[in-house]
Amino acid sequence: MCPFQISLLEAADRPAVEALLDRVFGRDRKEKSSYRLRAGNPPCPALSFAARMDGRLVGSVQQTPVAVGDACALLLGPLAVEPELRGRGIGRALMRHALDAARAAGWTHVFLIGERAYYAPLGFGPAAAAGVSVAGEPADRVHHMALRPDSPAPRGELRPRHPQTEAGRTSGE
Ligand SMILES: CC(C)(COP(=O)(O)OP(=O)(O)OC[C@H]1O[C@@H](n2cnc3c(N)ncnc32)[C@H](O)[C@@H]1OP(=O)(O)O)[C@@H](O)C(=O)NCCC(=O)NCCS
Repeated sequence: MCPFQISLLEAADRPAVEALLDRVFGRDRKEKSSYRLRAGNPPCPALSFAARMDGRLVGSVQQTPVAVGDACALLLGPLAVEPELRGRGIGRALMRHALDAARAAGWTHVFLIGERAYYAPLGFGPAAAAGVSVAGEPADRVHHMALRPDSPAPRGELRPRHPQTEAGRTSGE
């Protein structure tokens, strides 16, 4: 059994998270379309988590509001685990905490960009089936989960959310 703990990401974790993400995704990671979508919006503190072992941050996941159609949804990511500690369930535990917190806060739809093979077993389906796309990303890398089955998915292209101009949202935070 791996003795890791999951807790909310704190502001003081920021340097450790940035260093982890540089190691995992490379220093050019901010050129990815997911960073463009998050531009101008900080991750939700209540929906972003760290995995720690002996007090050391060894994984993290963040969630950020994005616009889709005339509504608002969550973009989950980045998700990263220290390479030498992978395969012990840390990634899945971070995902479970992030999705449970989003559901409890009233969010109804979560999107992410990544490898289908990892996210499909966690319950994500193709965002294209819900009529949602991300400019510059192949459809098979964009995934969607409805947190409430009775809530129709918003349709359209994911875009950065500009809080001052957004009219509607599908969820409460
Ligand atoms: C993806 C990642 C977060 C998984 O973390 P983890 O702690 O190793 O995940 P878990 O231990 O919970 O799950 C491991 C399982 O996922 C599978 N897996 C891991 N990465 C995978 C990938 N890219 N594609 C498919 N399956 C993957 C493993 O084979 C393992 O499967 P098994 O349980 O059937 O043996 C981690 O590998 C990582 O940081 N990768 C680099 C960054 C990344 O790709 N992030 C996601 C995109 S934003």
